[in-house]
Amino acid sequence: MNRPSASIASPPGLTTTEAPFIEQAQRDGKLYVTQPYELYSEENHQAWQKLYQRMLPRWQRYANPHFLEGIGSLCLDPNRLPRLEDVNRFLRPLTGFRAKAVSGYVPAFLFFDSLRNREFPTTITIRRSDQLDYLPEPDIFHDIAGHVPMHTDKLFAEALVRFGQCAHTAAELVSGIRGRETQMHCLTSIIKAMARFFWFTIEFGLMRGADGLKVYGSGLLSSYGEIAHAIEAPEVQRFPIKLEWAINQAFEIHHYQPLLFIVDSFDHLFGLVDQLEAWMKAGKLNNVAPGEPGVNEEDLKSFLHAELG
Ligand SMILES: [Fe+2]
Repeated sequence: MNRPSASIASPPGLTTTEAPFIEQAQRDGKLYVTQPYELYSEENHQAWQKLYQRMLPRWQRYANPHFLEGIGSLCLDPNRLPRLEDVNRFLRPLTGFRAKAVSGYVPAFLFFDSLRNREFPTTITIRRSDQLDYLPEPDIFHDIAGHVPMHTDKLFAEALVRFGQCAHTAAELVSGIRGRETQMHCLTSIIKAMARFFWFTIEFGLMRGADGLKVYGSGLLSSYGEIAHAIEAPEVQRFPIKLEWAINQAFEIHHYQPLLFIVDSFDHLFGLVDQLEAWMKAGKLNNVAPGEPGVNEEDLKSFLHAELG
């Protein structure tokens, strides 16, 4: 009758790719979830602690000052996984942003549109504590320790919201294109351009400041190895960002980035997002260079079925 279950022998916790709670939510078709904090195992907390403690000196050395201020403002506990409601209590008064727990992949339009609404879809699982460098998909360390501190900065937050508005503009523009084939070609190209822009700024961006080159991209801010590599390695190509280059530049996700782009400030970043939208309206994103990233069926559908209220 009382068969011992695997969950008693070894609590599954909320580990990347090994979280029954997440699998169930996905089976139920639930994208937004409540963070079930009590499900985190001690091993999950240890993974957070190890990640956080080894990153701290690297952030102090390589992160831009806005990020460091953000880390301070959020009062993250270095030893325990963060509760999203605690994070939001500190975050919302600063910029109106909040972290919102999700069960997995968020299709492109929904993701970008969340930014417009100052909501950041946030992964709640964490990588295994014995695989700190192995990251098959985003986890809570990437999202909360890599992205969210940037959302405390007013100028950065405005650029992110502006980027979210571009997704709306894209969905509107594409809905007016006649001919299914042309419509799909243009939409695929616009999503590719937006994904590349996001990648080379929000995820892997560098910023030139009074104290030299610093990191503001969250992919770098959450990677112990790559944050140093991005700044120090002589083989990395670092160039002032050019919109026409970034939107036509393919990237690969499974190794350190060979090419990074530099902005001067978050005002500069905001201006680039404005330019991105202007180019979109002028049709200049309708036929960007082929190559990575791929645009999947779900991403396309999310734009075609977008609610444009
Ligand atoms: Fe990310």
